[in-house]
Amino acid sequence: MRRISRETVQRILDAADIVDVVSDFVTLKRRGANYIGLCPFHNERTPSFSVSKSKGICKCFSCGKGGSPVNFLMELEQMNYNEALRYLAKKYNIEIEERELTDKERQEETERESMLAVNRFAMEHFERMLNDTADGRDIGLAYFRERGVNDAMLKRFRLGYALEANDDLFKAATSAGFSEQFLVATGLCNRNDRGRVYDRFRGRVIYPVLSISGNVVAFGGRTLRKDKEVAKYVNSPESVIYSKRRELYGLYQARQAIVKQNKCILVEGYMDVISMHQSGVENVVASSGTSLTEEQVRLIHRFTENITVIYDSDPAGIKASLRGIDMLLAEGMKVKVLSLPDGDDPDSFAQSHSSTQVEEYLSRNETDFIMFKTRILLKDVGDDPIARARVITDIVRSISVIPDSITRSVYISECSNTLGISDKVLTLQVKKFMDEAALKQRQQNTRTQNLEKLEDSVAPPVPDPELVKQLSGTPGMEDAGTSRDSGDAPSVNRDDARLLEKLEREVLRYVLKYGMLQLTEACDEEGNVWPLSVIEYVDEELRSDAIVFIHKAYSDAYSAALKIARATWGEDIAAHRRMLEVRKERSFREGLDAIRAEGGDVGALEAKEIALRERVESEYARGVDEYSANYIERQLVSSPDDSIRALATSLVSDRYVLSKVHTKYSHVETEQERLEELVPRAIYELKDGILECRIRRIRRDIAAAASDPSTPTETIRELMTRNMELDRLKAQFAKYLGDRIIAPRK
Ligand code: UTP
Ligand code: MN
Repeated sequence: MRRISRETVQRILDAADIVDVVSDFVTLKRRGANYIGLCPFHNERTPSFSVSKSKGICKCFSCGKGGSPVNFLMELEQMNYNEALRYLAKKYNIEIEERELTDKERQEETERESMLAVNRFAMEHFERMLNDTADGRDIGLAYFRERGVNDAMLKRFRLGYALEANDDLFKAATSAGFSEQFLVATGLCNRNDRGRVYDRFRGRVIYPVLSISGNVVAFGGRTLRKDKEVAKYVNSPESVIYSKRRELYGLYQARQAIVKQNKCILVEGYMDVISMHQSGVENVVASSGTSLTEEQVRLIHRFTENITVIYDSDPAGIKASLRGIDMLLAEGMKVKVLSLPDGDDPDSFAQSHSSTQVEEYLSRNETDFIMFKTRILLKDVGDDPIARARVITDIVRSISVIPDSITRSVYISECSNTLGISDKVLTLQVKKFMDEAALKQRQQNTRTQNLEKLEDSVAPPVPDPELVKQLSGTPGMEDAGTSRDSGDAPSVNRDDARLLEKLEREVLRYVLKYGMLQLTEACDEEGNVWPLSVIEYVDEELRSDAIVFIHKAYSDAYSAALKIARATWGEDIAAHRRMLEVRKERSFREGLDAIRAEGGDVGALEAKEIALRERVESEYARGVDEYSANYIERQLVSSPDDSIRALATSLVSDRYVLSKVHTKYSHVETEQERLEELVPRAIYELKDGILECRIRRIRRDIAAAASDPSTPTETIRELMTRNMELDRLKAQFAKYLGDRIIAPRK
């Protein structure tokens, strides 16, 4: 197994131009410093998808999606990290050099691949048991026959049978060389308390679940017993390779038919999919008994925007699933529904009708979802005016989530007929809901741009108890707990966490945006002077007070930044300098030629030459600065680690960066020019915040001690003294922060 070499990855990331990459999928128009277009991640009519060439990232202001070229491809095309890199390499004609995997990578890669491999073995084993054993044939195969499944479907859906034995699969797999570890990781086997390993699937027919790329990610096993004692289905557990929310049963077999017919039919169960296929209707998938998730909808949306949901005729079931359908509408899908004749499910219906009958029934009885919903809901209402009003509101709400305005107005006029309410009233209602939703969206957007909050796509950071403990152990900043509770694990309350979150985020933002720029100079006792970059400065400051970020997401991103600064920076900047030097020499030579061609006396020539030299030197310096400035951020927004990449993207798009108001661009410059003042300030504000948390904590302790009559006066006095010390320190910080801060270097 091999991996793209680091140098190649770097070359690919350097070559990938965000405008270029996005343009392959979205029509972009220039708007000031940025480009703008219709968001490919959701349906919209006015463009809110913004692309910043200079930052190398894109972002939708409405749905929040986007990121670096790699991230964009991963989200839009559902590629994994490596696929995205290979896509870009191909686009930019970059030859891929590969390297051996590190041990850790090999282990992770091996884990996934081993799990898939053991699943594939199991699938084939279950197939063999179904066809080649007496029990398999008499029990499993007989069952499928009874249900009318033909040979072609058995093969197509890779159906199988698990023998009624404790460890049949376990024995077969281990003797074929598969290790117990992966049998357990996939959930094919379990280990009980006494250390015995036994099979999950026993005496059941097996439906393998294939991912869209054809990997076997899970199994469903149906019991053949009629009694209610055992679960009807046993399914594979969630694992590294299986997330229930992201898979649809039958999609692998249905995808071509879905594209060809530009429509996807959604049913509930394994057998429904198989029977429909058998009757010639192949564009069918099942959500496997749970309500449809957004991930599944998006999966379908990649192939078509038309979806037909088939219901059993059970009214309770219908009502329950109506709710889920608004989500389909909001995703911009065109939704139809179909109910089957009383007592039928897709399986029985397909079995009892010829394929032409099935197709005919489908095309005749598909009803538009909104009309269907109106009919179903109105049926129960009768004359009750309040219930009726509730139904109308419910339907209007469904209409209001439809992104397309023409579709909306068609519905409004149809519903106006069915409900006997004027067009105008309905339109007003719809508009009201849309305004409400838009307001909510706007609030969310401001929130996205607001420094205090993270965007929705990134989970809010949480304090990590381990890190809190480390911070509390900080010398000079030690937790001011009383002796009474000194044994307790230190903790932060919500307010404290929120305060520190803001401050940590700001420091991290400077590190990502400007990390490799020179901030100041450091010198030692012998008077040696050397340049200190932003990240080195921050690191020294944090270390000298043993400060750690208590939010795991931040501390992880910060460690990743440090690692980049130490490991790859030197090599990369050297390579970049060499490139800039070549360019510098070339423009110098070309400039010289031009000057000589112009002619003139020697004095004038010399002056021009000096001006030229200055110009190319300053271009060179600017090139180095530009490369250094967002080096860390460029690396992290393309990090292979999903959570670091998401966090980095959200930090980079904070505030000014992709602001729609590009006049704010001037602020970016100012910020970079004022780093010498701003970075130390951010550090001191963080230290001040930590101090503040300690003061709050000690005040809480004092209050608690004072209200407990058994507390010795001595203890209270100690606490008060400690409180005073902290207050004094805090006052010093306030003075620092009040004055213009200059890095107080020795
Ligand atoms: P059904 O109970 O309708 O089963 O559940 P079915 O697939 O139609 O089975 P047959 O026709 O009796 O053979 C619908 C789907 O819900 C999931 C399965 O994916 C099933 O296909 N399910 C149901 C479970 O995962 N576990 C259960 O216990 C029941
Ligand atoms: Mn069924």
